[in-house]
Amino acid sequence: MEKSGINPKTVILMAATRVKFASWLAAQGIKTGAEIGVAAGEYSLPLCNALEGPIYLVDPWKTYPKSIYNDMANVVQVEHDMRFRYVNSFIKARGLNAKTMRMTSAEAAEEFEPASLDFVYIDANHGYEFVIIDLEAWWDKVRPGGFVCGHDFSSDTVNSALADFIGIKGDWRTLLIITEERDIQLSKDEGILTMRENQTEEYQKKYEHMPPMPMSFAIEKT
Ligand SMILES: C[S@@+](CC[C@H](N)C(=O)[O-])C[C@H]1O[C@@H](n2cnc3c(N)ncnc32)[C@H](O)[C@@H]1O
Repeated sequence: MEKSGINPKTVILMAATRVKFASWLAAQGIKTGAEIGVAAGEYSLPLCNALEGPIYLVDPWKTYPKSIYNDMANVVQVEHDMRFRYVNSFIKARGLNAKTMRMTSAEAAEEFEPASLDFVYIDANHGYEFVIIDLEAWWDKVRPGGFVCGHDFSSDTVNSALADFIGIKGDWRTLLIITEERDIQLSKDEGILTMRENQTEEYQKKYEHMPPMPMSFAIEKT
């Protein structure tokens, strides 16, 4: 931590795979939280398997105009309906301690008390203003010492929204975790941490079976 000049309240951490990251969360005593942006539940399953729950799975499962949501995940309505049914069916079939919330991130956040969750995992609309909305909506729902996590930090819009949000907040009240990327360089620029990564398929395959990066520094919660 000190080596890279990071504020001790701030931790950026990566795991070799998202699945390992879910187990790592469990090992930190993380139990309940929300995944924001669920789609077909590809990550919900490892999250729910690893954690005691309840895990809240938030997604409107709704088609948006491209001008609002330009992403492969913005599928046609019939596909969204199918994904919603599929996620509910695997929750039921596997007896998972999870609940779907078919609504937007901001709507769902209103249903939670401040500091009531151990973590959130944000992976919804990656547009700049939506990432800001998600961070605003969920930041205070995570208890001190919990984790605000997210996916696709490599996306420019996610990256800059995050930097601006942290800039506005002035400090990192909650530990922030970015997962998956192994080859990162940390740098500190006016208190904002940036991360570069290599996410090619070949690269991911190469590290798939490697143990996660050393994480001892990440336990430094103050
Ligand atoms: C990238 S996908 C999620 C992938 C999933 N987390 C996984 O790892 O497999 C993004 C999802 O965000 C959802 N989404 C879009 N806008 C949203 C919003 N305002 N609130 C919550 N979810 C939203 C989309 O419907 C889509 O299913």
